[in-house]
Amino acid sequence: MNDRVPKRLVARARHRLVVRLTIIGVAVAIAMVAGAATFVFWGAYNVSALQQHTEPVYTLLNTALNRSIRQRAEDIEVPPLDDPAMAEQGLRYYREKCVQCHGAPGISRDDVGKGMTPVPSNLAHTARSRSPAEIFWTIKHGIKMTGMPSWQFIFTDAEIWEIVAFLMQMPRLSPADYQAWVAEVKKASTSATPPVSTPDPERGRLAMYGYACIACHRIPGLVGPQVDVGPPLEGIGERRYIAGVLTNNFDNMVHWLQHPTEVDPLTAMPDLGVTEQDAMNIAAYLSLLD
Ligand code: HEC
Ligand code: HEC
Repeated sequence: MNDRVPKRLVARARHRLVVRLTIIGVAVAIAMVAGAATFVFWGAYNVSALQQHTEPVYTLLNTALNRSIRQRAEDIEVPPLDDPAMAEQGLRYYREKCVQCHGAPGISRDDVGKGMTPVPSNLAHTARSRSPAEIFWTIKHGIKMTGMPSWQFIFTDAEIWEIVAFLMQMPRLSPADYQAWVAEVKKASTSATPPVSTPDPERGRLAMYGYACIACHRIPGLVGPQVDVGPPLEGIGERRYIAGVLTNNFDNMVHWLQHPTEVDPLTAMPDLGVTEQDAMNIAAYLSLLD
């Protein structure tokens, strides 16, 4: 009989405590959201490329980056990378597309590469600190908000592995080794176009990020800056003409996407070097927009 009273009291006290903690928790959460909103809307954070993140923000972002890449690279199977011909081809691609930002042994980053924040990584260091699978994933997908582009619409997987094969050699190269190797590969160059397969609209949707179509067009299904340099592409599947000059059908769309200035020399849409396969994939996606 006696011990029932304290039990009830204890239960009531516990209930009160839970209610109070909940109120405090909700109040703290509201204060944090309000604080964050004020911080964002007042423009308190300096986005200048010269103003590095504070140390805690930098560490936090870097940890998120490392964890994200490791997680996504886990299931990637690494092919053999020790064939010298592979690394040699990788070096060609590297000189064409990467050295401007990342530099190379004895070669400085160019003005864009020097001025970026975060600064494009020293890839000799990367080759020592990351696995080939992680490097492959990074090249293929890019890193948002850093300026590191995704290269999957420029290079096939096999070509990206060639770049990885080259990068794994990089820590061992002195500036003189690098120059000698460059002189060697300059003598010959090869490139093969991969065979064309059935148009894939989803691949086409992603390709429109890869070719920066969203820099000029609003496109349903893609998130972007919402500018109208070119016409919004909503309903393009139903339109009679492409750019007002070409009957809208699949083949003409593929042609337009690859060679807009050939179709209309005065058009403001630039030739973007869209490959046949990517143009077909994009045309397949656009044909679905009604
Ligand atoms: C427009 C400049 C630019 C170009 C071109 C560029 N990158 Fe990058 N890259 C960056 C930036 C910026 C980072 C991010 C650095 C960071 O997160 O600290 C980066 C990161 C990377 C990383 C991850 C490094 C690490 O340590 O985590 C790899 C690997 C890489 N790039 C490879 C390449 C390859 C290969 C090419 C050429 C096919 C290339 N990049 C072209 C700017 C560029
Ligand atoms: C630099 C800006 C720019 C970029 C990048 C760009 N476009 Fe365009 N695009 C234009 C302009 C401007 C027009 C209008 C051309 C005209 O009417 O002569 C246009 C027209 C078009 C049209 C015809 C629209 C219509 O209403 O008939 C399509 C389709 C199109 N672009 C798709 C794309 C795709 C897909 C990409 C990426 C591969 C892309 N554009 C990249 C500027 C751009």
